[in-house]
Amino acid sequence: MALATRHWQELEQKYYMRTFNRLPVVLVRGEGARVWDEEGRSYLDMVAGLAVNVLGHCHPAVVEAITKQAGRLIHTTNLYYTTPQLELAELLIENSCADRIFFANSGAEANEGAIKLARKWGHLHRNGAYRIITATNSFHGRTLATLAATGQPKYHKPFAPMPDGFTSVEFNDLDALKAATGPDTCAVMLEVVQGESGVHLGDHDYLVGVRRWCDEQGLLLIFDEIQTGLGRTGKFLAFEHHGIEPDVFTLAKGLAGGVPIGAFLSKESCSVLTAGDHGSTFGGGPLACAAGVATVKTIFAENLAAHSAEIGAYALEKLRALQAKHDVIDQVRGLGLMVAFDLKTETAPKLVSEALSRGLILNATGPRTIRMVPPLIIGKAEVDEAVETIDRLLA
Ligand SMILES: Cc1ncc(COP(=O)(O)O)c(C=O)c1O
Repeated sequence: MALATRHWQELEQKYYMRTFNRLPVVLVRGEGARVWDEEGRSYLDMVAGLAVNVLGHCHPAVVEAITKQAGRLIHTTNLYYTTPQLELAELLIENSCADRIFFANSGAEANEGAIKLARKWGHLHRNGAYRIITATNSFHGRTLATLAATGQPKYHKPFAPMPDGFTSVEFNDLDALKAATGPDTCAVMLEVVQGESGVHLGDHDYLVGVRRWCDEQGLLLIFDEIQTGLGRTGKFLAFEHHGIEPDVFTLAKGLAGGVPIGAFLSKESCSVLTAGDHGSTFGGGPLACAAGVATVKTIFAENLAAHSAEIGAYALEKLRALQAKHDVIDQVRGLGLMVAFDLKTETAPKLVSEALSRGLILNATGPRTIRMVPPLIIGKAEVDEAVETIDRLLA
């Protein structure tokens, strides 16, 4: 049956688990910063598949890498060496503070690996300490351990009891973190900018203070760079803004330009996982890693971190001008192309659906907050277009 003649929304209602409140649009194609629905309407995509399509949709470098690799070797196992995996490992290690990497398939899985590494490190070096301190309003994934690490009780409730071993304390409150540290603590895990809860920036003094505290106490510092990494905030990795280095960090989202992938990386000093400790059937597979190599090389070749800093600053400026014009905008914040604004009223979901009907894709992280995490390749013209649409909708 032809595409447009199927009732896709009815099929979803009938067959899919009721886990998503989807917007009423069936997307069938994407190119650059735009996507098209089944009726041929185009949309400016300021969400990029939730911070995934860093090079935009169907970037030629990613399409070519996937196409070539698909004709050569799609999957084998980690029982053998494969070339895209090791090329991507080299690229990420040579361009970061890490010494070793493990590839997974998603952000949650990357964080699970980091948690396992921290726990084993605690067994070996801190008398069996296993507890990890995280922050309120953080987001680390949907598996049971990463959900327990996520400092948002609303996500825990239906699945209680949560796995033991996580304590969440107020973000940007160093004293709270110090007070929560005990003999059973092995690590601290934070986002440099909290994304899912609405783009909340970690304070410079706080992040530097946490690094110092971890050094003093002999704790591992894990940064979850799943949303902030790969140039999104204006640096290749967001912690580079603060002149500090974590012991462990995690990546996913944009790492393979839209193909599922995740990774956790560590310093040699805490690289404690050995044969049999961890594994993955699909993690580090040739197809995803070939897409990853193409994506990361393009990020560097096109200097997309610096571009993200420039366009992000422009977006903040335009949104602040909008704030001066519309009293309903409460606060504007962001770093690079990770941008959000709060409304004084609980109308963010309404604004998102009205924007969609005008050809603009936005994301509401809550009743009052709009988030934009667009492809890093957008220019000022796309920012102008998005801001003009929002302006008209708020008028
Ligand atoms: C900071 C952060 N960590 C982890 C995750 C989980 O990633 P995934 O959905 O790929 O499991 C997300 C997803 O939004 C995230 O933003």
